Amino acid sequence: MSATRKAYRSAILHSVGDPAEVGLEASCEYYPDGLLVVDEGRISALGHASDLLPTLDANIDVVHYQDALITPGFIDTHIHFPQTGMIGSYGEQLLDWLNTYTFPCEKQFADKAHADKVAKIFLQELLRNGTTTALVFGSVHPESVNALFEEAERLDLRLIAGKVMMDRNAPDYLTDTAESSYTESKALIQRWHGKGRLHYAVTPRFAPTSTPEQLAMAGQLLKEHPGVYMHTHLSENLQEIDWVKGLFPEQKGYLDVYDHFELLGERSVFAHGVHLCDEECQRLSETGSAVAFCPTSNLFLGSGLFNLPQAEKFKVNVGLGTDVGAGTSFSLLHTLNEAYKVMQLQGARLHPFKSLYLATLGGARALRLEDRVGSLRPGNDADFVVLDYKATPLLEYRLEQSGGIEETLFVLTTLGDDRTVLETYAAGRCVHQR
Ligand code: GUN
Ligand code: ZN
Repeated sequence: MSATRKAYRSAILHSVGDPAEVGLEASCEYYPDGLLVVDEGRISALGHASDLLPTLDANIDVVHYQDALITPGFIDTHIHFPQTGMIGSYGEQLLDWLNTYTFPCEKQFADKAHADKVAKIFLQELLRNGTTTALVFGSVHPESVNALFEEAERLDLRLIAGKVMMDRNAPDYLTDTAESSYTESKALIQRWHGKGRLHYAVTPRFAPTSTPEQLAMAGQLLKEHPGVYMHTHLSENLQEIDWVKGLFPEQKGYLDVYDHFELLGERSVFAHGVHLCDEECQRLSETGSAVAFCPTSNLFLGSGLFNLPQAEKFKVNVGLGTDVGAGTSFSLLHTLNEAYKVMQLQGARLHPFKSLYLATLGGARALRLEDRVGSLRPGNDADFVVLDYKATPLLEYRLEQSGGIEETLFVLTTLGDDRTVLETYAAGRCVHQR
């Protein structure tokens, strides 16, 4: 028996399907008194404690949590590491927000020591909030991505990141060229993609800050490196959309710009997609592309309300993103609280099982990682969180009134935040303890 074998006994809940596809009942598995067995960083068994305990060696270490819920680690499908220090910047919508706050903040990442310091803060913040996998924007500087990957490697996290490609419509101090962005991205892919649990994403910031030549280079990188991701922004803000139409008059619309440069595909993730037409949803769907739904950001920047029912209708893969620093929280629990309100404002409901799906398995599917993370299926990486039913006096009192796991989960997403996360495990190792 492996010395690293360990078992965790608690209420356990995970998503096994999209409620929009398989129905609510079949979308989750719940074990009121469950057992999760971990071996060499992987999940080796999941089931009812009464079934599994008798099958285990007598001397196995069993950690027993009372008043807690184990779920898969959360998956953040869109976040900016260099914007950690500017979260909560006042008063602007997207384009002015970028010029006033974002670009000056990202400038600091030319300094590797600064990037190293923020990488530590950023990854600790993810783990404190129960996020074990993220798709991350770096800055334009390759050193920012080196700093982030070095720290993620040390923590053995499953993480996808890339250097921003940006060769126009930004300050000189923050632009690369089509050529240098290609060369620098390629070197980063060679250094990091597939190393441990790390993956690379080719990351053009958004259509307005790349020349056609640079977008063509991004497409070239994807062709030359199958398995690498593509990560950008799409249709977030109405002024931005008009700007794209002016910059690329030959294209049918915003998504068509990316399509023209062959940037759509199964490993392509587009943040926001707040103002998509049906044809664009259809195109995202048929190419297997994904959208990151970022409710706190969309509300904070006044961008608009993401239409989740439209995405479901066209079977577009959707994950959940915090989009820090436009997003106002690292917590995907808190992000789900805002997602629920975004749906309410459109006369729609976000069921707690769909919320769990978005924050876990849906994110894993958007990132094509569902055979590794996003659920507690045996064989998956042992990335999971322990949520504390007694994290605050109000949560404890409210959950005493709960009629069952659906209500409990809904309350966790309504009242929950970093305080709710008692422990976070990555590859079977405890990486955060509250
Ligand atoms: N569009 C282009 N860059 C950004 C960014 O940094 N944040 C957000 N929310 N949208 C963008
Ligand atoms: Zn963003």
